[in-house]
Amino acid sequence: MNKDRKLIIAGNWKMNKTVAEALDLSRALKLELAGVKEVDMVVCPPFTALADVSKAILDSNIRLGAQNMSEHIMGAFTGEIAAGMLKEFSVRYVILGHSERRQYQKESDALVATKALAAHGASLKPIVCVGEMLAERESGQTEKVLERQVTGSLAGLSKEQMGETIIAYEPVWAIGTGKTATTAQAQDAHAFIRGLLSRMFDDTVARRVRIQYGGSVKPSNARELMSQPDVDGALVGGASLEPRSFGDIIKNSI
Ligand code: 13P
Repeated sequence: MNKDRKLIIAGNWKMNKTVAEALDLSRALKLELAGVKEVDMVVCPPFTALADVSKAILDSNIRLGAQNMSEHIMGAFTGEIAAGMLKEFSVRYVILGHSERRQYQKESDALVATKALAAHGASLKPIVCVGEMLAERESGQTEKVLERQVTGSLAGLSKEQMGETIIAYEPVWAIGTGKTATTAQAQDAHAFIRGLLSRMFDDTVARRVRIQYGGSVKPSNARELMSQPDVDGALVGGASLEPRSFGDIIKNSI
């Protein structure tokens, strides 16, 4: 597949995998994906496995991501993890504003924007998640919701920072449900988001930003989704927990 933007496919392991299991998965992926150069590949284990996974993939083509971070640099924030602490484990990417955090931890667009700035401050590339809920789609509000989330969650970023930011479009109704957005639904939402970026920043930035699709991505639907002009990768949940399925998603996307 020939695109200007290099595909980026990331596995969000969510709250799964002990250290031993995370190491097994990392080692298997390293073998499975050894020859792949065409796609940027990222794994996002839970915090507790970052140190060991980091060592396991050190000499590989797989990069490390975290699933969240604090908006603060350091200090009295019990239970939080700062960007600088992630850097100690060679973390390069950080998922921000995942719908599960928006839903369960009540993360707002403003908080996500503050976190995105903090991530850039530490030279981490944020993967900023947006996406509508089923009721919002059914009532015709998808674009309104995306506009609010995109403008709010990326507020304050410079053009340069935006160019190094990844957006993940994850319709909430497609996450963990087995119900994937159709290629047309994904392409429409991605093109809409790119249009917003062009208005918020400029055309050059909009053309540069990679927009991932997330929500029940599997080996069987990866190729069709990635073939859409504005779909530049995937953020994979369930299917990233097994080396074969994650490996096949990547191979089928090339
Ligand atoms: P699933 O791939 O399990 O639907 O999860 C998607 C997701 O939330 C990735 O961040």
